[in-house]
Order: sequence, then C-alpha cells, then structure tokens
Amino acid sequence: MDKHHFYQNSVQCVEAEIDFVADTYRALKGRGAVTLREDFCGTAQTACEWIGRGDQHRAWGVDLDPLVLQWGRDNNLSRLRPDQQSRIELLEANVMQANVDQLDVVLAMNFSYYIFMERTQMIQYFSSVRDSLNDEGVLFLDAFGGYEAHKELTEERECDGFTYIWEQASFNPITSEMQCYIHFETDEGVRMDRAFSYYWRLWSLPEITEMLQEAGFSSADVYWEGTDQKTGEGDGIYTRSTEGTADAGWVCYVVAEK
Ligand SMILES: C[S@@+](CC[C@H](N)C(=O)[O-])C[C@H]1O[C@@H](n2cnc3c(N)ncnc32)[C@H](O)[C@@H]1O
Repeated sequence: MDKHHFYQNSVQCVEAEIDFVADTYRALKGRGAVTLREDFCGTAQTACEWIGRGDQHRAWGVDLDPLVLQWGRDNNLSRLRPDQQSRIELLEANVMQANVDQLDVVLAMNFSYYIFMERTQMIQYFSSVRDSLNDEGVLFLDAFGGYEAHKELTEERECDGFTYIWEQASFNPITSEMQCYIHFETDEGVRMDRAFSYYWRLWSLPEITEMLQEAGFSSADVYWEGTDQKTGEGDGIYTRSTEGTADAGWVCYVVAEK
C-alpha cells in the first residue's frame, strides 16, 4: 500500500504531458526547450521524464513536502543514470520562492495551482513564474472543469491491481471552493481512505487567462482536446482553441508566453 505508487499509476501520464510540452514549445519558439522547472512536483516524475528526453536537458522540481521529495529521490531519481541525476535537482521550497530562473519552461500540473484561493495570490504566483522565465520562456498549466466539476460526486476507475476513487466531497458555489479526495482500494479489498486531500478553488478558464495577462504574460491560450470521431471521446490531441464544448468534465492545457 504505497500511495505515491498508486498515484503515479492512476493520475499521471508524464509521457503524454512532456510530449505536449516539448512539441508546443518547439512550435512556439522554433527550437527545443532545454531547462524546465516542475512546480508542485510531488514525486518529480515529470521532471525525471524531461531529463530522459535529451542529454542537454536540465530540470528542477519544487515542493514544500520533504517526504514526497524523498520518495521521488528514492523511487524516480534513483532510476536515472548518474549523468542524468547530475542534471536534476529537487528543492524543498514554496513555489513562490523557488529561486531558479532563466528557464525555458515552468510547469504546474494536476491543477496544483488551484490551492491559491484569491486573485491577488494567484497573480503573485504567476508573476513570480514570469520572473523565473527567460525571454523565450513559457508557462504550462492544466485546468479542469465542466458541469460535473461543480457537483458532489464519487467516480471510480479500474487500474492495474487497484481501483482509483475520486471524490468531490463538497462544493461551495458562493466561493467556488471544493474539497476533493483520492482514495485507493486494492483488488484484494484493502482500502486506503483519503490518501490525498485537496482543498481547491475551481477557477474558470477566462479567470485563469485574465490573471496570466495581468501578471504580465504576453499571451495566455487554451489548448483544447479534439474528439475521436469513432468513439466520441477525447483523442489526446490538444490544439490552441477559442471555442470548447460544454462537456460534463474536461481537462485542457493553458499555455502562457512571457
Ligand atoms: C496535486 S500534487 C501535484 C503532484 C504532481 N505535480 C502531479 O502533477 O501530479 C500537489 C503538490 O503540491 C505541493 N504543494 C502545495 N503547496 C505548495 C507550495 N506553496 N509550494 C510548493 N509545493 C506545494 C504538495 O506538497 C503536493 O506534493
């Protein structure tokens, strides 16, 4: 029963995430990105994926929690070759004070930045990211929403050897604040309740892009997922869009250029 192992094998798909980051950066800037900071990095699985994608690549992971960083060192960084390990650094710090700059890319994934509840706080975070980027730097975020995002619900998904359970335990429409939990249950019926707990504000896409612009980013665009014509489901291909679909639940990327 290792909650970080379960998390990595149910929530994250770092290969697809890094494909999107690498391809989008190249399309925007006409060159490959080299340096990347993963904010709210948790186990730093994404930063490790970045290191594996290029011999010049460098990465920094930033998280407040020393225990999750240690898990990342023991289980993810330890799988890298020594030369790769020398190109990655994990920092126990608040993302607001992550002193790594002149970066090509900053990432904040799995909605971690939704912990900032007030506009002033969020704009302060976005400004600090902007200051950390070089002139060709790009911030990548993900976002979620849809009419079911405003509901109290529980969803289950079968994974390899266990079930992933997502609970939206409460939602306050006046503040847009929500309490969510991830629970896990093994195929043998052993349950791990509230393995992860998130108290978030559910921000809308126009709020996010407007705050990015207020923080000084020159562009802030939504990349929306296409639809597979056969299944009617998302096709995993995200393109810059100004019109989305009123789905029950959606996940998209937001890309902001310095
Ligand atoms: C939802 S997890 C994200 C894990 C990973 N980035 C991912 O994509 O799945 C959120 C992480 O943010 C960290 N965290 C929360 N507030 C933070 C802050 N102000 N500065 C740095 N890390 C923070 C927590 O310790 C936790 O590991």
